Amino acid sequence: MLIKLKPKKVLLIGGGVVAKQKADVLTKQNIPFDIVTLKNNTPYPAKIKEFEISDTNGYDVVIDATGCDKVTNTLLENKNFLLNVVDKPEVCDFYFGSIAKKGDISVLVSSNGKSPRLTQVIRDRIEKILPNNFEIDRKKDYETIKNETSKVFIIGCGPGAVDLLTIRAYNTLKTLDVALYDHLVNPEVLDILPQNCEKIYVGKQKGYHHKKQDEINELLVQKAKEGKIVGRLKGGHPFVFGRGYEEMIELTNEGIEVEIIEGLTSAISAPTEALIPVTLRDKKDSFMVVSAHLKGARVNLNWVDLLHRENLRVIVLMGLSRAKNIQKRALEIGINENREVYIISNATTSSKILKTTLKNLEKKAKEVKKPAIIIF
Ligand SMILES: C[S@@+](CC[C@H](N)C(=O)[O-])C[C@H]1O[C@@H](n2cnc3c(N)ncnc32)[C@H](O)[C@@H]1O
Repeated sequence: MLIKLKPKKVLLIGGGVVAKQKADVLTKQNIPFDIVTLKNNTPYPAKIKEFEISDTNGYDVVIDATGCDKVTNTLLENKNFLLNVVDKPEVCDFYFGSIAKKGDISVLVSSNGKSPRLTQVIRDRIEKILPNNFEIDRKKDYETIKNETSKVFIIGCGPGAVDLLTIRAYNTLKTLDVALYDHLVNPEVLDILPQNCEKIYVGKQKGYHHKKQDEINELLVQKAKEGKIVGRLKGGHPFVFGRGYEEMIELTNEGIEVEIIEGLTSAISAPTEALIPVTLRDKKDSFMVVSAHLKGARVNLNWVDLLHRENLRVIVLMGLSRAKNIQKRALEIGINENREVYIISNATTSSKILKTTLKNLEKKAKEVKKPAIIIF
């Protein structure tokens, strides 16, 4: 049951840290209140005086944040208002809960006054899964609403090391019912998922396609329409050669809400691992991230000409098995055979950093395990 406190009159007794916390909550929820206290250490205006029961006259709600038994007992003996005594749930008429709110939807989380911190954590989780732009229509049936409130998170899980996940990704992973993950996602990330979360490997390793993109899209739609909270876990950043955008469009076309959770991209993390800045004043005035692999396993060498621009840092993803083609083309167009090239594999987990030259690129690429990036 939700009692609308506005425009009830609220009195807060106390002027210490706890009173300030309560005053902050009331202010945040736009609930007007007055304070009575002997000493005011809050930034809120207060009536400075010793508390007497007559101070409660005309108030519907009283919050006792004094921690003083004498005040509490006086209140309990003369009660004709709703009372909350901080940290004494047994004598409270109401508790402070945590409210998750989006539009007209409010979800109140209460622990019967036992742990405000717990209610905040649960509130934050609920808030994540509340739909953003949900239109309320009384005529909609249960199944329609279930479909329309479904949500898929496309989550960038970073280059590998689990502590490089963003806090947003970490918090989102904890809310999932289903996780579809591919081979670049560190298995340690899966340990963060709730125990009963369904984990589905969808592969996408070059040459080992486990599920086709269409099948992945279908599965995402199907799971979301079952009313589940679905996560699509990807290596790096979902919008950097990650097909996150394509998946997002498929889902939004089906009316499913999508949230993109960014991740650190290997295109920047891997060079950083080798202490290579992607830009450097006076030396590298720009950087370019390319894929050497195009749709249908075609090789992409359109960018090789740009190696003539010494001030451009070139970061090549999916280039390891194309090293021979890259080397050949670069030499053909007159790039110096001694041009420095780095190959960085498994950055941030079991990193290997190889420094070589253009003329040895093909040979060195064979010594390295995937995934790897090539840096010029
Ligand atoms: C399909 S792309 C996905 C890129 C990803 N979305 C990102 O932002 O890092 C896969 C390529 O990313 C690169 N890659 C991903 N993780 C890597 C890592 N830990 N170390 C080196 N290269 C990595 C490799 O070039 C690999 O072939």
